[in-house]
Amino acid sequence: MTSLGVVGLEAGYVRDLPILTDVDLVAESGRLTTIIGPNGAGKSTLIKAIAGLVPISAGRIVLGEQSITGLRPDLMGQHSLAYVPQTDNIFRTLTIDENLALTLRGEAGVRARITELYELFPALREKQREKAGGLSGGQRQMLAMAMALTRKPTVMLLDEPSAGLSPKIATEVLDLVRSLTDQGVTVLLVEQNVKQALRVADHCYILAEGRNQIDGPAADIAKDPVVGEIYLGGKRMSAA
Ligand SMILES: Nc1ncnc2c1ncn2[C@@H]1O[C@H](COP(=O)(O)OP(=O)(O)OP(=O)(O)O)[C@@H](O)[C@H]1O
Ligand SMILES: [Mg+2]
Repeated sequence: MTSLGVVGLEAGYVRDLPILTDVDLVAESGRLTTIIGPNGAGKSTLIKAIAGLVPISAGRIVLGEQSITGLRPDLMGQHSLAYVPQTDNIFRTLTIDENLALTLRGEAGVRARITELYELFPALREKQREKAGGLSGGQRQMLAMAMALTRKPTVMLLDEPSAGLSPKIATEVLDLVRSLTDQGVTVLLVEQNVKQALRVADHCYILAEGRNQIDGPAADIAKDPVVGEIYLGGKRMSAA
């Protein structure tokens, strides 16, 4: 089991113009930690910096006991870390089966692992020979998640898996995200859907203007009207 830590992180896209300033975070082993906050807060930037996709100018990222600061994204898998981006997370012109097989790059036991993943995502099994571009939004997120799970990661980073989904499908997708923790996976989830995120999370961080604002047990944050008012624009907290 592996926890993920972020310490004093400064990161951004342009030199000397950091988007994140002095960000601290701990995603406890086998727990679901969520990051919420207004548009442009730096949530995606934070998760991308952890995944090695945004330059880090100060601070560090620690996986278990090991520093993975500035990790090369292609080496992430070796550290048992998987990242599911917000968009463009599947190959539309390939079939479901081909998308999954591709992530395993012809390694031994590919068929067995894909069969296991179809157990977890039965909707994908039914469509395994169809092109991924024809999937519904929810099924597409499930495929992206299945692709991230092929190498049995111990840490999963997910960026807004419920974006653009109906409330019913968003619930299904987030329940699946939650179920990853039952398998011992450490999950770090960025969400716009505050109510749903707090429903499935153990711990919550609120990020605004690239800085930590407040954090606490998800159940406490959900009950705190002041938090909702100040950082999430009031109405957001009660939105479905
Ligand atoms: N590729 C990029 N190059 C330069 N600036 C970027 C880039 N991506 C994001 N930014 C800037 O970084 C800031 C934080 O953006 P980010 O995407 O991390 O926010 P977010 O919290 O994920 O927002 P949202 O809720 O809208 O997804 C914004 O000011 C944005 O304009
Ligand atoms: Mg984002």
